[in-house]
Amino acid sequence: MDRIRIRGGRPLSGEIIIRGAKNAGLPLMTAGLLTDERLTLTNVPRLADIDTMGTLLAQHGVAVERQGADGRELSIGGPITNTEAPYDIVRKMRASVLVLGPLVARAREARVSLPGGCAIGTRPVDLHLKGLEAMGATIRLDGGYVLASAPQGLHGADFVFPFPSVTATENLMMAASLADGRTVLANAAREPEISDLADCLVAMGARIDGIGTDRLTIDGVPRLHAATHAIIPDRIETGSYACAAAIAGGQVLLRHARLEHLGALVRALAEAGVEMTEQDGGVLVRRLNGLHGADVVTEPYPGFPTDMQAQFMALMCVSDGAAMVTETIFENRFQHVAELNRMGARINVHGASAIVRGVPGLSGAPVMATDLRASFSLVLAGLAAGGETIVNRVYHLDRGYEAVEEKLAACGADIERLTD
Ligand code: UD1
Repeated sequence: MDRIRIRGGRPLSGEIIIRGAKNAGLPLMTAGLLTDERLTLTNVPRLADIDTMGTLLAQHGVAVERQGADGRELSIGGPITNTEAPYDIVRKMRASVLVLGPLVARAREARVSLPGGCAIGTRPVDLHLKGLEAMGATIRLDGGYVLASAPQGLHGADFVFPFPSVTATENLMMAASLADGRTVLANAAREPEISDLADCLVAMGARIDGIGTDRLTIDGVPRLHAATHAIIPDRIETGSYACAAAIAGGQVLLRHARLEHLGALVRALAEAGVEMTEQDGGVLVRRLNGLHGADVVTEPYPGFPTDMQAQFMALMCVSDGAAMVTETIFENRFQHVAELNRMGARINVHGASAIVRGVPGLSGAPVMATDLRASFSLVLAGLAAGGETIVNRVYHLDRGYEAVEEKLAACGADIERLTD
């Protein structure tokens, strides 16, 4: 299994290209199930999760082809020949549940494995199911699978989310695009990835109002058609490399990054002493002097993203004060804490909050992570630590970050992948 070795203490300087957003690319790929015609996606990142979704779509019978000189274009299309999403694929990636809405809307039935346990909490899918039921689907659970059917097709419905869920909003918005009549999704999530999906659906002929707000009105149409859509830049990749520049010191230009998608993260980093400015078609990140403690609370967009919590905590470990990091989206998303503490951090967890007392320095150690974003927080700690850090279980990182070691090494970090 691959590992990443980091020898810390070097400032970063240079440019990093921010690629298309994983969490936009995954639902956009499943939108390809909504039509027989071709959906072409550009700016597709090269990530293990994107490949997993490709495998899932292919076994539904749909053709998925990587194109373009650098393979960053995906073309998806064709008839659905199989409506089952098997456990073997779904267990690898929870986002597989995003095929549910499109399959029921288009093929009028689906058999999708329940995702099961997950390293960052229980993460049920009840809202996806309740929304589809409101639209007329019959839902049954059997043998670890969700069986959904709507032999007469789906109809429009009013659905109020008890709290915003990102992929449930996406699933229901896709299903509603082909339903009969009007659907109103209230208290919906409004992450930029959802707006990106909505923009693509509109390009495919869907009728959606309220894009970017928490109230989406979708008037169903009988069919959708071919379109080409460029995936938005990844705001979490952007934030992760902003933290790298902040923890290592120096300055880095994050090319293609968009400041307007970063919301509360920019404010938190500013409070910590990190400046982010728009420049040359990207975002320039600079640590001004030292790092200062700053409190954050994870919230649905535009609040501070849970997907940046672990990386921000790594930064706070070497700040000159204390910080309280509160996680409100997922229970059990503090598994990076024990590993950071092994590197010399001083973090105490009390329920949903972690108190981080900054220390002057961390020391390198062999570490391992249990999820994608936690893995990046260990890379960050390694950049700041004295001595050598070995990050194990790199497959977590490869799910959502493209060529981490190459991007950081190009900016002066001493980092390499060790392949057994
Ligand atoms: C998406 C992101 C993930 C991010 C998360 C929160 C993708 C592919 N993944 O995940 O990276 O961390 O948003 O920003 O976009 N919940 C329920 N019932 C449901 C659905 C969700 O109780 O049916 C709960 C979850 O357990 C969690 C909260 O709602 O506590 C929000 O989760 P949700 O927004 O659904 O996360 P995902 O869409 O799975």
